[in-house]
Amino acid sequence: MLLLEGATYRYAGYATEVLHDVDLRLDDGEIVGLVGPNEAGKSTLCLVASGLAPASVGGSLKGTLTLDGTPAAGLETHELAQRVVVGFQNPNTQRSGIAATVFEEIAIGPMNLGLPVTETVARTREAIARLRLEHLVERDPQRLSGGQAQLVGIAALLAMRPRHVILDEPTAQLDPAGTHLVGEALRALAGTGASLLIAEHKTDLLDEVCGRIIVIDGGRIVLDGPTAAVFDDPRLAELGVEPPARARLSRALVERGVDPAVVGQAIASAAG
Ligand SMILES: Nc1ncnc2c1ncn2[C@@H]1O[C@H](COP(=O)(O)OP(=O)(O)O)[C@@H](O)[C@H]1O
Ligand SMILES: [Mg+2]
Repeated sequence: MLLLEGATYRYAGYATEVLHDVDLRLDDGEIVGLVGPNEAGKSTLCLVASGLAPASVGGSLKGTLTLDGTPAAGLETHELAQRVVVGFQNPNTQRSGIAATVFEEIAIGPMNLGLPVTETVARTREAIARLRLEHLVERDPQRLSGGQAQLVGIAALLAMRPRHVILDEPTAQLDPAGTHLVGEALRALAGTGASLLIAEHKTDLLDEVCGRIIVIDGGRIVLDGPTAAVFDDPRLAELGVEPPARARLSRALVERGVDPAVVGQAIASAAG
């Protein structure tokens, strides 16, 4: 379990706080979506929940981050990295810069965990297969399209088989097919007991994979609940979040006089 309690955070050199008293709990096997307007604090929350802020990024944090019962503040950087991995929106910030091929790029994570070679190769192959990257394994990781680089970055995280994963707009550069692959891969990872936090504008993806959604605005959590309840909440649009297609469709049907119970059944069976 990843537990963030009473997090109030400000960046170094800034007088004002950008997160205010945020509580976040990710249970094992749980995928939680994080949405909110631009500048709401999603990326900052990703940094704080992964322990990168303040440890690596600087700034000051009130509140505590606990990973499986261990306070993050007491962990060395490499110990922290073994417990929680974080993926950024821009895959270029994440690339190792030392791998000659995509295969090596994906293998670096498990290798750094000190795993035997056979295990490293097995995990690397599995991550490659999950994201259908077989055709890229020999390529130079510096010479990929934005979408390819994003998939390679996610494969590199998956290969570490992390217990906790924080992703900041992991599909920003992906087409619908790539986005769907990522969704399936994240679900499979959660199936192994990992807990995930995903900041995303693509609410259709979150609707598919998340059990819970958190809405943040002005650095405060304003909604937190089961996915369907949050995405059907009429306040969502005012908060600058576009509801997923499912929620928009059901609202449109209900507004046109279709019985809500019938709409609910039809959508559940279509999703089934
Ligand atoms: N490195 C930084 N230094 C100072 N302020 C920052 C930094 N990154 C983001 N902020 C500020 O923190 C607030 C939240 O931004 P951010 O977490 O990036 O929001 P989001 O990801 O929801 O768009 C904004 O007011 C932004 O200007
Ligand atoms: Mg952001």
